[in-house]
Amino acid sequence: MIGLGTMGAGIVEVLAKAGHRVFGIDYDDRAVAGGRERLETSLDRAVQKGKLNPDERQAVVSRVSFGTDKAVLTGASVIIEAVSEKPELKQAVFAEIDAHAPADAILATNTSSLSITSIAAGTTRPDRVIGIHFFNPAPVQPLVEVIDTVLTDPAVIDRAMSFLQELGKRPIRCGDRAGFIVNSLLVGYLNAAVRTYADGRISREQLDAAMVEEAGYPMGPLALLDMIGIDVGHAVLVRMYDETKDRRHAPAPLLTQLLEAGLLGRKTGRGFYDYRSEESVAPV
Ligand code: 3HC
Repeated sequence: MIGLGTMGAGIVEVLAKAGHRVFGIDYDDRAVAGGRERLETSLDRAVQKGKLNPDERQAVVSRVSFGTDKAVLTGASVIIEAVSEKPELKQAVFAEIDAHAPADAILATNTSSLSITSIAAGTTRPDRVIGIHFFNPAPVQPLVEVIDTVLTDPAVIDRAMSFLQELGKRPIRCGDRAGFIVNSLLVGYLNAAVRTYADGRISREQLDAAMVEEAGYPMGPLALLDMIGIDVGHAVLVRMYDETKDRRHAPAPLLTQLLEAGLLGRKTGRGFYDYRSEESVAPV
């Protein structure tokens, strides 16, 4: 697993709980420590809730090694990348994966917003590069989108589908189009929610409660944007808008302002809500 942020650490947990030996890699020791902490916090919560006993927790932890050295990729059968949604960074990471991975490995990106085809085409083995797109929180959400391209070897997709089923996930096949299936339907709704909030006639709490209590969503749209990350939501909208030119996908100005201000949601402590203290303070 390369990239140990919210999604990467969650995917490490899924893999290790299913009994796989996992190497978690990030670019420096601080990022690696952050990934380890995210994994251990999540496992501690599972122990507190009685979903995992301390021995099982220990067994999961013992299956995971962390580090910065990509040389371990020479022994990997499935490599999943979940670094930041920056095209140059993903291309650079895939160049390193390409240099180290065994010939028969599956090379997967968890990108939400970038073209799988362009990532694949930048490697010497585009037939083995696919999208494996988990949802947040990865340990909880069963759905995983599996994305092929015009370059993919069908046997790689078949192997990925079986692998994900064995993890207890519910994989679905998607083509390489902006937003794949779920985000292409979801982000227009989230963007509309930001515009509604920015009108100033309803509080964020009222807006979120309306969608939870009356529309049956598990969480409100502003809280969900804070969870998936303002930067990630914005990047998906930009790609959707570029591809469709549908005005519903032009990022709401307030979303762009939060991005520019570095208020990226839970991961930075502030977004639409403030997570730094019990008291929630509006950012705008
Ligand atoms: N890691 C591991 N487990 C977690 C977790 C996390 N980060 N967050 C919650 N959980 C577990 C809890 O332990 C609990 O497990 P239990 O039922 O076995 O005790 C269960 O999830 C429910 O959690 P809570 O009781 O604390 O809280 P909720 O019932 O409010 O559920 C939620 C929290 C699972 C986040 C739920 O609100 C939800 O499903 N929200 C919608 C999330 C969603 O839409 N995700 C997709 C976003 S789009 C995306 O990710 C794509 C990307 O490309 C943008």
